[in-house]
Amino acid sequence: MGQFSRFLVAVAVALLPVIGAAGGGGARDRGTRYAGVFSFGDSLTDTGNSLCLAATRKGPSSRPPYGETFFRRPTGRASDGRLVVDFIAEALGVPHPTPYLAGKSAEDFRRGVNFAVGGATALGPDFFKSRGLKPFVPVSFTNQATWFKNVLQLLASVHNRTRIMASSLFIVGEIGVNDYLVAFAENTTVEEARAFVPHIVGAVRSVVTEVIAAGARTVLVPGMIPLGCEPQLLALDQSSDHDPASGCIKPLNDLAELHNRALNGMLRELRRANPRTAILYADLYGAVADLIASPRKYGTHACASNHQPPANHQLSPDLVFSVDLRV
Ligand SMILES: *[C@@H]1O[C@H](CO)[C@@H](O)[C@H](O)[C@H]1NC(C)=O
Ligand SMILES: *[C@@H]1O[C@H](CO)[C@@H](O)[C@H](O)[C@H]1NC(C)=O
Repeated sequence: MGQFSRFLVAVAVALLPVIGAAGGGGARDRGTRYAGVFSFGDSLTDTGNSLCLAATRKGPSSRPPYGETFFRRPTGRASDGRLVVDFIAEALGVPHPTPYLAGKSAEDFRRGVNFAVGGATALGPDFFKSRGLKPFVPVSFTNQATWFKNVLQLLASVHNRTRIMASSLFIVGEIGVNDYLVAFAENTTVEEARAFVPHIVGAVRSVVTEVIAAGARTVLVPGMIPLGCEPQLLALDQSSDHDPASGCIKPLNDLAELHNRALNGMLRELRRANPRTAILYADLYGAVADLIASPRKYGTHACASNHQPPANHQLSPDLVFSVDLRV
């Protein structure tokens, strides 16, 4: 494991209204409560797996100030408070999903599981190796999909597994930020990184397809953040191609937009193939861009400095989570 540093970025996400709309989409029985949340992703979603993994156990999120605002101890979340997945679970009235690596039994997992790991990539080590690159942590979406299969096996002992799948919310992503960060940490050009897009979208497609095959009826897929506004990439940037209003790097935001168009195209295909499943896209790009444009609207500064929690700890609960950015 190389050295990596993290920046906290307060991020606003209007996910909850999207979930509210899912119930009206007809994919779930009206009036049915969600049984739980199953989530896949990286540090935007990891609520404890990195503390259980040898490669990441001693990482920054294992130490204060991580965790100090809400849980009063470092929990493995790359945040001083809760993440979006925590607020979603709370809003749905279900438990915080059990971090996969912190659970064992069907009982631990039947109310939801979080497979996300800080630093995880969509793509596996072979993809990066063939390009002379090395992922930050040894966990990709392939591993998370395998863990999901393990949970399905465990839940096979529960007579109502199908019902649990059908009445849970599946959150697949955000994933892919680290794939791009791994690339840019090693001299990859934006043009070369654009060639990653179909591979990353294919990895998301594969996990969405698997959860639907297991009986998922509500799947939420958050898109890519505006990469060109990401502090670490801004710090590395040598170019002068910045958006005058936001200061963000245009070619990187173009890359994120390309990613999101490809992701949406893939989701449209999956919706056609799976008309009984509500497949929702969460516009993380728009939410983050709005926060960067209007930080005061969210009661915070757009970016906190390295290793410092946001200046205002009383961030509005509908919205804040952190992004870890590593090189
Ligand atoms: C599954 O069964 C358990 C035990 O009978 C019950 O508590 C739980 O509510 C059921 N879950 C669903 C989604 O039906
Ligand atoms: C990056 O690539 C350029 C062009 O191939 C090369 O000249 C440079 O030495 C590389 N830098 C690093 C740090 O690998």
